[in-house]
Amino acid sequence: MDPGHFFASSRVLVVAGKGGVGKTVAAATIAAAASRCGLSVLLVEVAGRSAAAPMFGASPQGYEEAVLVHEAETNGIRHGEIRGKSITPDDALVEWLSSHGFNRLVKRMAKSGILEVIATATPGIKDLLVLGRIKALESEGAADLIVVDAPAAGHALGFLRSPSGVRDAARSGTIHRQAVEVLELIGDPERLQLILVTIAEETPINELIETSYAVEDEVGVKLGPVVVNSVLPRIEGLDRSVARAKVNKAERADLAEAAAFRASRTALQDEQLERLGSELPLPQIRMPQIFGTEIGPAEIELLAGEFIAGIEAL
Ligand SMILES: Nc1ncnc2c1ncn2[C@@H]1O[C@H](COP(=O)(O)OP(=O)(O)O)[C@@H](O)[C@H]1O
Ligand SMILES: [Mg+2]
Repeated sequence: MDPGHFFASSRVLVVAGKGGVGKTVAAATIAAAASRCGLSVLLVEVAGRSAAAPMFGASPQGYEEAVLVHEAETNGIRHGEIRGKSITPDDALVEWLSSHGFNRLVKRMAKSGILEVIATATPGIKDLLVLGRIKALESEGAADLIVVDAPAAGHALGFLRSPSGVRDAARSGTIHRQAVEVLELIGDPERLQLILVTIAEETPINELIETSYAVEDEVGVKLGPVVVNSVLPRIEGLDRSVARAKVNKAERADLAEAAAFRASRTALQDEQLERLGSELPLPQIRMPQIFGTEIGPAEIELLAGEFIAGIEAL
């Protein structure tokens, strides 16, 4: 598939998955890959502090938007600007209340803890308000593509389920309207797609398969390709290299052991990838494991190249 076409197929890509599988890395990679296709990108994090900004060599942004990567042209290819923004559920709630006539009360409410009371009384309200902010950004045309790094704890399912829960709880009024509008966004494949991230291990893959079917059934969201992160690259001829290495006997035994370990890891991984492919009829995009360094701008560039190659191979 043509990568430009892929990134233009939905205005919002929500990146979700179990905590620690590389959601933030995947979201940053997708942002970088879309930028390479000339799109302007807004990377939205649903957290207090940005985990993605350092991956672009920028300092963490707060609620305010910040430019992470400037628009540039290299060798005649235009890279789109990448901006970052983080939306916390609390900020979204305060902003919503302020813009609905509760302005003067909000500060006092925040202090008195009443915001928590509202949030507890209406389960899902915070997730809904975050999604409401994302919907507003989408309708404003804030960027060619909005990439959302979804909350880990809230789990993709809870996050995306929130609007239907709230819609049914609030039968009318502004909250109800907000929920209906967010549901329209989530249910429209030309506006929003969900990209689930996993690693090639048994438990995360089981969870991903379960989540995929559940969100598709219950939420009606379009599922994009699955991202499999931290895939161990295959090393061709590892045994031969070990045999030829100029080392002493003990060192050769260590090398052979390491090579055997690596081979068994890759075999397990292949087994899991194959299982994922047979149990979930979604295309896979693989991102390699990067060794020995923090994920910074150079690594994101490398991963973005792999991601684009993965889209081209679809
Ligand atoms: N492909 C990769 N290669 C190497 N390290 C990675 C890769 N993907 C993620 N990591 C590292 O794994 C950790 C978790 O990644 P992160 O994206 O923050 O996960 P999540 O957002 O799902 O909690 C981070 O330290 C990150 O740098
Ligand atoms: Mg994260």
